[in-house]
Amino acid sequence: MTAMNQTNRALLDFIAHSPTAYHAADNLARRLAGEGYQELSEGEKWALERGKGYFVRRNLSTLVAFRVPLENPRGFQITAAHSDSPAFKLKHAADMAVDEHYTRLNVEKYGGMLCATWLDRPLSVAGKVVVRTAGGVESRLVDLDRDLLMIPNLAIHMDRTANEGKAYSIQKDMLPLLGDERAKGKLAALVAQAAGAEEEDILDADLFLYCRTPGTVWGAEEEYLSSPRLDDLQCAFCCVEGFLQGDHPRTMPVCAVFDNEEVGSGTKQGAASTVLSDVLQRVCRCLGMDGEDYLAALASSFMVSADNAHAAHPNRLDVADPTHHPHMNHGVVIKYSANQKYATDSVSGAIFRTICRRAGVEVQTFHNHSDTLGGSTLGNLSNSQVSLNTVDIGLAQLAMHSACEIAGAEDTQAMIAALAAFYSTLVEDKGQGKYALDSAR
Ligand code: CO
Repeated sequence: MTAMNQTNRALLDFIAHSPTAYHAADNLARRLAGEGYQELSEGEKWALERGKGYFVRRNLSTLVAFRVPLENPRGFQITAAHSDSPAFKLKHAADMAVDEHYTRLNVEKYGGMLCATWLDRPLSVAGKVVVRTAGGVESRLVDLDRDLLMIPNLAIHMDRTANEGKAYSIQKDMLPLLGDERAKGKLAALVAQAAGAEEEDILDADLFLYCRTPGTVWGAEEEYLSSPRLDDLQCAFCCVEGFLQGDHPRTMPVCAVFDNEEVGSGTKQGAASTVLSDVLQRVCRCLGMDGEDYLAALASSFMVSADNAHAAHPNRLDVADPTHHPHMNHGVVIKYSANQKYATDSVSGAIFRTICRRAGVEVQTFHNHSDTLGGSTLGNLSNSQVSLNTVDIGLAQLAMHSACEIAGAEDTQAMIAALAAFYSTLVEDKGQGKYALDSAR
């Protein structure tokens, strides 16, 4: 296998085993533990060893990893991505019988998906359950890991205008079918079995539907890959791999993968929470740095907020900016928006372009079509707690928020190379808008 294929195989394997943000954070934790990283608990006092790597999870769905440098850091080099993707979330006691011959499940929307793409595909259920224990409660991850549900389309014969634009009612059109009348009560039993618990001991749960379509590499030259949840697990994967590969002796490398980006990041574990600032400040205190040292370090710090970008669509160039057309397999995309939905500015853009040029990684530019609102991401929200030079980037992809998305097969490696180079660079604030970019390579 070529290095590119190996990387994509590892990426698709990671995504296949990460049906929810909980599983994504769990798999990243395993990857880091395999490299000798030690998990810290937020509820205990930390004793950190210089030269060692650590990670913290909050809510089991957000992960922040870092390595303690031998000397106190001049700054932090931070990448950030998100662990969640749009999905349907199960409501409590989700069984809904209909017509005495069907068992459906009651769901609501998590984030903004393309509803139509979830229809007529095998789906399953995964997430986190909270189980009663002798002394309290315990969280457990579950994945039913089988073709279990489908949301059936209405036949064209019963909806002659279906191809002329359609409004989906989540409550009416998007409820998945679990089985016939015999399926009543089965979901709760399957979840309890997967959790290794008695049904009555499951006190609460966060359970989501997920798409079972396997990831694949395709195209005349195998130039594309498709998979559920490429937004943003492709970037989360690249951030961790880049974090493991790059290093600069005078910076502290940090990698944050946040939950809840798709619903605005405003949770205790989201990018707008204190989780990143809590970790950075605790590390500084452990290293004997004071509040003054922390703020000075932030000035010589840099964040790469990595969340996938829109490639120009072959059938709909009209919705893209007239002159900036990001393409798959042409490297990392830097995202700009005048209203600062993206945190990139001229300084962070210039610094990141320099890092990519030094690494030999192609850079593209994204602007929204001036008449569209566009998306948002986590960079500017994270800046409300930890304010530092930030660039918003992503890999070009098609069909964002579809149940199955499309990206470039060569781009995963390009992003890892760019981020490894980023972690090998110190971005030192020299005052009056000047920055020195010291590369350790
Ligand atoms: Co995203």
